Amino acid sequence: MTRTVRAKAPAKVNLQLTVGARREDGYHPLVSVFQAVDLWESVIATPRTDGRITLTVDVPAGSPVDAAAVPVDGTNLAWRAAEELAAAYGIADGVDLRIRKGIPVAGGMAGGSADAAAALVACAEAWDIGATRADLDRIGARLGADVPFSLHGHTAVGLGRGDELTPAMTHGSFHWVFATQSRGLSTPEVYAEFDRRLDAGEQALSDLEVDSGVMTALMAGDPVALGNCMINDLEPAALSLMPRLERVLDEAEAAEACAALVSGSGPTVAALARSRQHALAIAAHLKAARVADAVLTAAGPASGTVLVQD
Ligand code: C5P
Repeated sequence: MTRTVRAKAPAKVNLQLTVGARREDGYHPLVSVFQAVDLWESVIATPRTDGRITLTVDVPAGSPVDAAAVPVDGTNLAWRAAEELAAAYGIADGVDLRIRKGIPVAGGMAGGSADAAAALVACAEAWDIGATRADLDRIGARLGADVPFSLHGHTAVGLGRGDELTPAMTHGSFHWVFATQSRGLSTPEVYAEFDRRLDAGEQALSDLEVDSGVMTALMAGDPVALGNCMINDLEPAALSLMPRLERVLDEAEAAEACAALVSGSGPTVAALARSRQHALAIAAHLKAARVADAVLTAAGPASGTVLVQD
C-alpha cells in the first residue's frame, strides 16, 4: 500500500552566534543560541518501489519565497537526507519528495536544513523503519550543522559546529519580523569573509561562552533585555558582502525594534519586537521603507520537526 506522509520543520533565528577561529576541518567552533520560529518547510514523502528518488518544490500562492533558487537534484539536502537514511537502514525503496517552501531560500534561517530535517522524519515514517530521534540526529548532523536543531526546535544552545544541543529554558513567546532579500548569501562565503576579516585584523575574536544575559532574558520572557544581549559575529562579514543591509538595520531601529541583527549568515535581517502588535508595526515600517524584498512576521519558540496528519 502506498503511504504518503507529511512532516514540517521550523525556521531558526540565532539569538547569539559567537564564532571562533576556523578549525582544521574547515568548520568554525560556535556558541549558538537558536530559537525555532513558526515559519515552516513541509516535506511530503510517498514511497516508490523502484528505488528512485524524485523531488519537486512548490511555493504556496502569495509566498515571497523564490522556488527557482532551490535545486531539484541530488544536491538538495532533502534528497541527500533520503539517500543517507536509505543507506543507513538498507532500504531498497525509493521516494517521491515534495517540498513546500515557507522559509526564505539562502536567507540565514536554515531553510535547507529544515528540508533535510523534514525529509528525515517523513521518510523514516513512510518507509516505517522505526528510527529513533537519536538516529535521525546523528544522520542529520552529517547532512549539515543546523539540521539537528531543525529536528529539535524550541530554544537551544548549540556548541561544536552548532550541532551539540542543550535545551534552553524560556518563558512565553517572542515576536519577530524577518526582512528578506531575493538574492541570498552563501554560508561558506560569509564564513570565508569572516576568516578574511579576522586575518586582516578587521574583526576580533569573541569569547566562546554562552551569554548569561541571553539565558536570563529568555527565562524572564523579556524581549527588551534579550534585545540588549543579542549578538552575531557573522554580521560584519554579511554586511561587507551586502552593504545595503545596513539600511534594513537602520530602519528596524527607527521602528524601535528591541534588536535588529542579521540572521545567521544572512542576508535576512531579524528584528525582535516587544509584542505581536509591535511586530506588525515594525513590519509595516520596513515595507513602507522598501528596504527588503519581503517582510514576514513569526513567533518563537516553535516546535521541532513533527509529522502532520492531513
Ligand atoms: O554544515 P553546513 O553544510 O550547513 O555548513 C555550510 C558551510 O558553513 C560549511 O561548509 C562551512 O563553510 C560553514 N560553517 C562553518 N562552521 C560551522 C558551520 C558552518 O564554517 N560551525
